Amino acid sequence: MCGIVAYIGQRDACPILLEGLKRLEYRGYDSAGIVVNRGGALLMQRAVGRISALEQKLDARMSGPNAGMAHTRWATHGAPTELNAHPHFGDGKRLALVHNGIIENYRVLKTFLEAKGVTMESDTDTEVLAQLVGHFYEGSLGDAVRQALREVRGTFGIAVMHANEPDVIVAARRGSPLIVGIGKDEYLVASDAAAIVQHTTQAIYLSDNEVAVVSRNGFHTTTLDAAPVSKKVEELEMTLEQIELGGHSHFMMKEIFEQPDSIRTCMRGRIDHDTGRVVLGGLTSVNKELLHTKRIILTGCGTAWHAALIGEYLIEDLARIPCEVEYASEFRYRNPILEDNTAVVAISQSGETADTLAALREARDKGALALGIVNVVGSTIARETDAGVYLHVGPEIGVASTKAFTGQVTVLAMLAAYLGRRRHLSAGECNEFLTSLDGITDSIKRALESDGAARRVAEEFQDAGNWLYLGRGAQYPVALEGALKLKEISYIHAEGLPAAEMKHGPIALINPGMPVVIIVPRGHWYEKTLGNIEEVRSRGGRIIAVATEGDRQIAKMAEHVLYVPDVPEALQPLVTVVPLQLLAYHAAVARGCDVDKPRNLAKSVTVE
Ligand code: M6R
Repeated sequence: MCGIVAYIGQRDACPILLEGLKRLEYRGYDSAGIVVNRGGALLMQRAVGRISALEQKLDARMSGPNAGMAHTRWATHGAPTELNAHPHFGDGKRLALVHNGIIENYRVLKTFLEAKGVTMESDTDTEVLAQLVGHFYEGSLGDAVRQALREVRGTFGIAVMHANEPDVIVAARRGSPLIVGIGKDEYLVASDAAAIVQHTTQAIYLSDNEVAVVSRNGFHTTTLDAAPVSKKVEELEMTLEQIELGGHSHFMMKEIFEQPDSIRTCMRGRIDHDTGRVVLGGLTSVNKELLHTKRIILTGCGTAWHAALIGEYLIEDLARIPCEVEYASEFRYRNPILEDNTAVVAISQSGETADTLAALREARDKGALALGIVNVVGSTIARETDAGVYLHVGPEIGVASTKAFTGQVTVLAMLAAYLGRRRHLSAGECNEFLTSLDGITDSIKRALESDGAARRVAEEFQDAGNWLYLGRGAQYPVALEGALKLKEISYIHAEGLPAAEMKHGPIALINPGMPVVIIVPRGHWYEKTLGNIEEVRSRGGRIIAVATEGDRQIAKMAEHVLYVPDVPEALQPLVTVVPLQLLAYHAAVARGCDVDKPRNLAKSVTVE
């Protein structure tokens, strides 16, 4: 979604801002803009399309000033045009503002401002906010921002400059993340640590309804009512290397191949074979509540929801606690019934997904224990939960989630064992499971060897317009995940289904030549899934199977087989998903798609 980076210090701001914008590109955007304060006048440039288009428009006058702000916009109110791109001006072009989020009452505010003679140039809610701050400006930008934001309904992460105050950038947030990075005689404001980690790893995280007035010499933070707030300086958990391609052609490929390492890091220090226990420090404070938990609801969106479906199997099998999975976007509006001893677990890579956050708040307001499984340290969901478990898989830059998915499933497996051990699992039983989990990193490494075969299949079927993905049991969510990966980055229509549901309707879709991916590892569902393969074959569908190494029977039935190593059934999703990630990746490359920045998508969906 939208991205903000702002700089105030001793150096030329423009290159720092451009670099920051490039680091934010992965979040998804359709236009970009930049503003600097040059000798008491605000100079601005905006462009539709890539950052490179903006770069081409920058002239020598933009170089030199050492304060400025920049933005990548993902259109919500108004088309992706130059006029709608940020920054937006207020106060007769003396004030500039960049904004992430949505101002819900912008129509009322616009009518109010227009009645005062203000003319809007764009269709955006953001320009209304810029003009509102301008309306209140009487010599103190901090005061004007606070006063304006008290009138606002909706979500915002903003940075604001005024020509009269060249030494000040004001930042504020509600529902949209914002950090202030602290360098040596310089400060940066950003919506994502990736934009500033090159310059500093020391930062403060603004909380909702807080305002930071940042200058070259320091910053002070207050509430919207100007009450001082003291903030803790934190170390950002991100390195530059983690957010660079490091020789790979795309972040998605880098992240797929990182999985053996990222899963190892995710498990590090959390498995204690001596006691047959899982050590999840983030849950210590709610140990007692978890002992009495009678029902668990897992919630999330997209890939996180798929991980949750797998978590449901794991938790019910190992911990024998009734578990349900809900789309966060539905849960938040459904007035759910949450009896005593219910724990709601919000699963999110970014920790900023608006629907997941709202679902978590709904659960907490209704008295449920609110837990999180989150990757981004310090993110809003992580901060708002009663307790939780971080993935620790490192930053995920590719829009298509890969290592976060396997991280989420791994954490859910550890959570299931953690809960099971506190109920009926013996040390021996739990240890057996944990030993298999420990070994999964080598199995993922072996599953990555399907890369060449996945590429050949992708190239052969790249022009097929419709694909089906089928699986049974915990392979059904893997089928959903495989189909989602294919559609989001290669724009091919794909549907994931429980294999047994085929004959209740979807089988009508099968026509000669249609690629059908069937996930059929050895185990409980194997024979039954073979039956589904026959159903597809007899109607001319072309079978691409994901199967266990050494399975010769499948080789006779399927046109292509992507092999994965044999692992215990409960952990199979962690290996069967790998060839599907690779298949989607190679299909997108073969079709010439922008793998890491697919059209219309944003890395984290911070609006409803
Ligand atoms: O950051 P989150 O995990 O909360 O994001 C949820 C979904 O938006 C995300 O998983 C999305 O479906 C991915 N693009 C899938 O690859």
